[in-house]
Amino acid sequence: MDNMGSQTATAIAHPNIAFIKYWGNRDEKLRLPMNGSISMNLRELSTRTMVTFDTALPRDIFDLNGVRQSGEALKRVSEHLDLIRGIRGYSPRAHVLSENNYPADVGIASSAAAFAALTVAAVRASGIEMAEKDLSRLARRGSGSAARSIPGGFVEWMRGNSDADSYAHSIATHDYWQLTDCIVLVSTDKKKSTSTEGHAAASASPIQAGRVQDAERRLALCRNAIQQRDFSALAEVIEQDSNLLHAVTMTSLPAIYYWLPVTLEIMNSVRDWRKAGIPAAFTIDAGPNVHVICEKNYEESVKVRLQKISGVQDVILAHPGEPAHLG
Ligand code: PMV
Repeated sequence: MDNMGSQTATAIAHPNIAFIKYWGNRDEKLRLPMNGSISMNLRELSTRTMVTFDTALPRDIFDLNGVRQSGEALKRVSEHLDLIRGIRGYSPRAHVLSENNYPADVGIASSAAAFAALTVAAVRASGIEMAEKDLSRLARRGSGSAARSIPGGFVEWMRGNSDADSYAHSIATHDYWQLTDCIVLVSTDKKKSTSTEGHAAASASPIQAGRVQDAERRLALCRNAIQQRDFSALAEVIEQDSNLLHAVTMTSLPAIYYWLPVTLEIMNSVRDWRKAGIPAAFTIDAGPNVHVICEKNYEESVKVRLQKISGVQDVILAHPGEPAHLG
């Protein structure tokens, strides 16, 4: 295989917004999560990645949005390619060309789409046939949440007992429930703290044990809310889950405060709107931006309300997305 010359493939993947969040690993290297999680893929946002294995290349090259990467970013991509080279049993270096159609490192979990697209493209370029479950397991090794960007629509990543059974599957297709994620950008600054650091710090918080212990209950509530298309049940559980994650980050060692004052203002506004009858709920990942989940019929009115809040820079609407696929 080493004399194969060059082999190329392109894949497209969407990021996802977690309704029940992953935070903390029980095995950092294998990225085995402390708890299962549930998310929705985001159709309008995507990462397109082309991988070319080339026997003539002396080392891996990684270009992201037209900028040649080095240091930690290149290392993470190279290590992920090593896993695929290991499975295939061959060693050519690769040129990875990746483009996001949305800002990276702002808490929209760009690493999820990045590692899902990289996995699908690199596996295909190396000529391996792999089931969705195994692509998801492999994507998980690059970034935990990437496991959930492999299947489509509404997705559950099972905690599992080991590497073999910790993968994600679709619990409802993208057209099952017309929801919108109104992504409220309040800051496009580069993240102060990476999620890898956050996962590592989580166990120092005394809140983490309770969050993890209660996860099966929240997962069941969220799964049922999706299956029944029950917005008020969904709203209650996703807000509680998001608050639990942030209670952990704020009490980790070192503590991480992801929110800005405007983040809290949006959270309070969303709760007031829901009391007034608008089906909207918030969830926040590892950053200050807020994801306001609402029923699609209300997306324009929610967007207009959000844009009136001072400090809101932009509102991007995203709908349930399809699985990662070759492009
Ligand atoms: O996949 P990571 O290591 O970037 O972690 C993602 C963590 C959260 O976005 C905060 C939660 C989640 O489940 O996506």
